Amino acid sequence: MSIRHSAAHLTRSIAQRPVARSPVGLLDRYGSQKAGMASVVPPVTQNSVGKQGPTAMVFMNMGGPSTTDEVGDFLSRLFADADLIPLGPLQSYIGPLISRRRTPKIQKQYAAIGGGSPIRKWSEYQCEEMCKILDQISPETAPHRPYVAFRYANPLTEHMYEQLIKDGFGRGNGGRAVAFTQYPQYSCSTTGSSLNELWKWRNRLEGKRATGEVNPDGAIMWSVIDRWPTHPGLVEAFARNIEDKLAEYPEEARKDVVLLFSAHSLPMSVVNRGDPYPAEVAATVNAVMQRLKHSNPYRLCWQSQVGPSAWLGAQTSDTVKHYFERGHTDMILVPIAFTSDHIETLYEIDQEVLHEDAKGHPGVKRAESLNGSPVFIQALADIAHAHLQSGDSCSRQMGLRCQGCKSERCLEQKRFFVGEQAKILPTVR
Ligand code: FES
Repeated sequence: MSIRHSAAHLTRSIAQRPVARSPVGLLDRYGSQKAGMASVVPPVTQNSVGKQGPTAMVFMNMGGPSTTDEVGDFLSRLFADADLIPLGPLQSYIGPLISRRRTPKIQKQYAAIGGGSPIRKWSEYQCEEMCKILDQISPETAPHRPYVAFRYANPLTEHMYEQLIKDGFGRGNGGRAVAFTQYPQYSCSTTGSSLNELWKWRNRLEGKRATGEVNPDGAIMWSVIDRWPTHPGLVEAFARNIEDKLAEYPEEARKDVVLLFSAHSLPMSVVNRGDPYPAEVAATVNAVMQRLKHSNPYRLCWQSQVGPSAWLGAQTSDTVKHYFERGHTDMILVPIAFTSDHIETLYEIDQEVLHEDAKGHPGVKRAESLNGSPVFIQALADIAHAHLQSGDSCSRQMGLRCQGCKSERCLEQKRFFVGEQAKILPTVR
């Protein structure tokens, strides 16, 4: 299905949906049921426009192929992205070679997890559900329209942007859009790459390349939620999934279960450039362990290394093997940098680690991914609500480039999003 159809479907389905019944208040902060404390909020429908609305809420993520036929295109975009996998001056030559060579193997992996990645399904669901909550708690910026923009798979950023314009945003019509990264911890390889792509298409579709002006009248006002590694709702959602998994162990063994937090690794060249990701992932782990009152021993490890260059370790699969050798047979793997299932959880952890490396060891388990967790979706809405109220175009941290950054694209992209502040602030006063 094309993004055009997909986004049109999203918009149509939202427009036809009856008024959402408020989960706010029913979910006393992140989940305990206290129906009697429901907040009274004005009714909002998708036809009712607050004084600052409508607002486009754009979930950004790397994406994944929804079918095995899409794997080739997905990999060729991925290996062409020097922000994610820096291959040097020969990137445009080496990238396609690597992606062609890897396609059959990766197609088999997607076939093994059901024929495609569920990341699109989860992203669209999470965004739609978040928008329903936002319509209740932020009527002044309603209606909130859900969009998804993936970096390497459909719906691609450019198609999302074309859909925004078709839906009446920008190109002389103005309007507000929020780019909400679905990587809780910021990396220039992930969120930075998605923002570079968004900035590029903004230029081509309604900026200098389209109109001859950098900031034409009536262009979309963009702001960015660029990181949220220690948000209490995110921490709570992770902690509950860990507690649910711990409850599967006999009580006397529970406190000795080793928690292995697993995040996607980065090339050391990116880490040494000053990328904030390792520190922000560690901040999430620390916040989750504080919430759990440090009930268990734990380590942070890194997965999904590609190619022969040095990557951040220790690797997740090696970690499990080493702890086996030391007699630890009870371990819970916790995906800590992804907001839904995809190939890294369903294949790399479930198939390769649990079913192969840990074969015959039922004490090695994985915590559920956040997927449809209502605690998590409430957190997304709270993060978005606070952002919309703040009048900020991005965090203070986003304007600061990595110590070793030499990218003109990073410079221009950050200058653009930081500069949007001057337009946004007056709209919330
Ligand atoms: Fe981090 Fe450019 S690489 S800001």
